[in-house]
Amino acid sequence: MRLTINGQEVEAREGASVLDAALEAGIFIPHLCSHPDLEAAGGCRLCMVEVEGQDGPVPACRTQAREGMVVSSTGERAEHVRRMAMELILATHPTDCTGCPKYGTCELQSMYQYMGVSPQRWYVKSRPVATDDSNPLITHMFTRCIRCGRCVRACREVRGVGVLDYQRTESGIRIGIDGSVSLEEAGCRFCGACVEVCPTGSIVDVVGLNRDDRSREGNVVPCRDTCPAHVDIPRYLRYVKEGEWEEATAVVREKVPFPESLGCICTHNCEGECKRNHLSGPLSICRLKRAAAVRDTGEWKSRVRHEPLTGKRAAVVGAGPAGLTAALYLAEKGHKVTVFEANERLGGQLRYGIPAYRLPDATLDGEIDTILEIANGSDDEPRVEVRAGERVTDPVGLLDQGYDAVLVSVGTHAGTRLPMKGSELEGVYLNTDFLKAAREGHPLDVSGRVMVLGGGNVAYDCARTAVRLGATSVDVACLEAEEKMTSTPEERTEAAEEGVVLHDAYAFNSIDETEEGSGRVGGVTIQKISRFYFDENHRAVTELVEGGELTIPADYVIFAVGQKPEDTMGMGLELTHGPYLVADANLQTSHEGVFAAGDVVTGTKSVIGAIAQGRTAAEAMDRYLGGDGDITAELLDYEKASPRLGRAPETFYEGRVEPEFVPAEQREHNFEVFECPFSEAEAKEEASRCLQCDLRLQLTTPRLWNEY
Ligand code: FES
Repeated sequence: MRLTINGQEVEAREGASVLDAALEAGIFIPHLCSHPDLEAAGGCRLCMVEVEGQDGPVPACRTQAREGMVVSSTGERAEHVRRMAMELILATHPTDCTGCPKYGTCELQSMYQYMGVSPQRWYVKSRPVATDDSNPLITHMFTRCIRCGRCVRACREVRGVGVLDYQRTESGIRIGIDGSVSLEEAGCRFCGACVEVCPTGSIVDVVGLNRDDRSREGNVVPCRDTCPAHVDIPRYLRYVKEGEWEEATAVVREKVPFPESLGCICTHNCEGECKRNHLSGPLSICRLKRAAAVRDTGEWKSRVRHEPLTGKRAAVVGAGPAGLTAALYLAEKGHKVTVFEANERLGGQLRYGIPAYRLPDATLDGEIDTILEIANGSDDEPRVEVRAGERVTDPVGLLDQGYDAVLVSVGTHAGTRLPMKGSELEGVYLNTDFLKAAREGHPLDVSGRVMVLGGGNVAYDCARTAVRLGATSVDVACLEAEEKMTSTPEERTEAAEEGVVLHDAYAFNSIDETEEGSGRVGGVTIQKISRFYFDENHRAVTELVEGGELTIPADYVIFAVGQKPEDTMGMGLELTHGPYLVADANLQTSHEGVFAAGDVVTGTKSVIGAIAQGRTAAEAMDRYLGGDGDITAELLDYEKASPRLGRAPETFYEGRVEPEFVPAEQREHNFEVFECPFSEAEAKEEASRCLQCDLRLQLTTPRLWNEY
């Protein structure tokens, strides 16, 4: 239909209000209580317009556009009502705009600037209502509320929660909760819709929750932002909540080809950023990934990208998580790939650096088989050729052997031996050798007392492997105080249950001989430190406690103080920080056509970080080989999540659901996986704790007047 607004003829869609018609045609009419996703309430009176043939001004947001209508937003009577309405709003609004969290994005600020009202001219009647910062995640600054009611409508109409409402108080009407209870007591879902629709700085995210170095989207959904591969976590948790395992796994697989392995061993930094950390503990994001993956039936396979063959060949050197990920996506893009792996079996650190009680061979083998299966698809000849047991030391040379591009993803398989007294004694092992030997089925001897030096997860992998190999005692010593250790608290707790003793905040003085000249480990002398930090040159500085020496008898010592790449020194590629490969933003090394990804570039980080690098390398290599670099996947149809949450059930506020564990005494002498996957009921219950922070991003951000 067509109507005229401010002398301009505009086209309006069926059912549009006059305000919608004007804004959609780029004609600005002030408005505050209206929001694109909410039913118009018509309360603020800023959108007043005069309609030809009608007595007195009417709110444009509540007036339906009609064919042939003639509307003016600039008539004297409309302007008069608008100005009065604005003055009334401003009368109780604080003038310290620059101190407001919404400064610069505040819709009220935008409106009074458009109307030319100066804060200096406000008649300020103060409303001494204390800010409510007693709730997690959401702060309510009542003094900044303009009673537009958007939060009430969002909570009630959009989310179906109905916690917020208008309250009559001594200082007038304000938005609040019935009975002055906490948001939790009132049944809030902490979805943040009220924050999102509040036009001023009245309802805001708790100060400090959002990070300046993050995008708005990243701050709204920090779990997804933190995941190096940006797995759509809230989306797959919704499927888990419904028991739709297949769909949940498909969402994860759109970004990573190792969902079950990650569900077992991911460092899950996402959980550290989950907003439920402020509300009875983060979601078990990692375990829920496993819960879905173990129930997956593989229906998504039919939707895997399988582009026609390009005639190009790529070589991947190193079949760890980065290399296999890149190989898969390169094959999907139509390139033939040869994967060279120095070890007998594929998997890299997933296989040789992680004990079987955390990630069993069967799980890893299953996921690798799936990668090869979907990479090869229905082609007569496999797209991915695996050459295991073949060590490549000259990746550049592969370019002369008919490969058009090469990826070096050899990981960090060389352990670090600290240059300390006794470090070469018999009975001293390196973490990488120790773990690999155990995984290969010919473990190094630890039939005695074991001391592990190091405090990360790998140190605990060594300690707990030693327990399982029959060590009579296992101690762990590390420089960091326990709260600063990089191993996860779960890892330390589980190890302690298995008898591992921790000595935190100790410097390593010496590895001592059984008796002078024996050449065999007899103990380790460590010394308590009061402080440990890295100086400006990244050198470790320790402040020792005088008299704090302690000698612990030990028959074996395992260094678990880091690991680095093997073989890179002779590759003829530019190196950094010793043996690490230099790679640019496209992960291309100093030699054209040779790319590098994973720990060999980043240093030992995480499996998910290596997978993310494998993705980036595949994109860049595909572009290098003439493709478009698009490796995105759509393994299931996109379904928009329902914005309606409903009232929170009582269990919503409870802590994490814990899976079942095999008791410590039963797991001490075998490498069986001891953490059971969530049962279906447990997984659904845990997933239903998700706040679904991403729903906030479905809400429209209204444009400020200067954006019209
Ligand atoms: Fe129309 Fe508030 S926007 S009355």
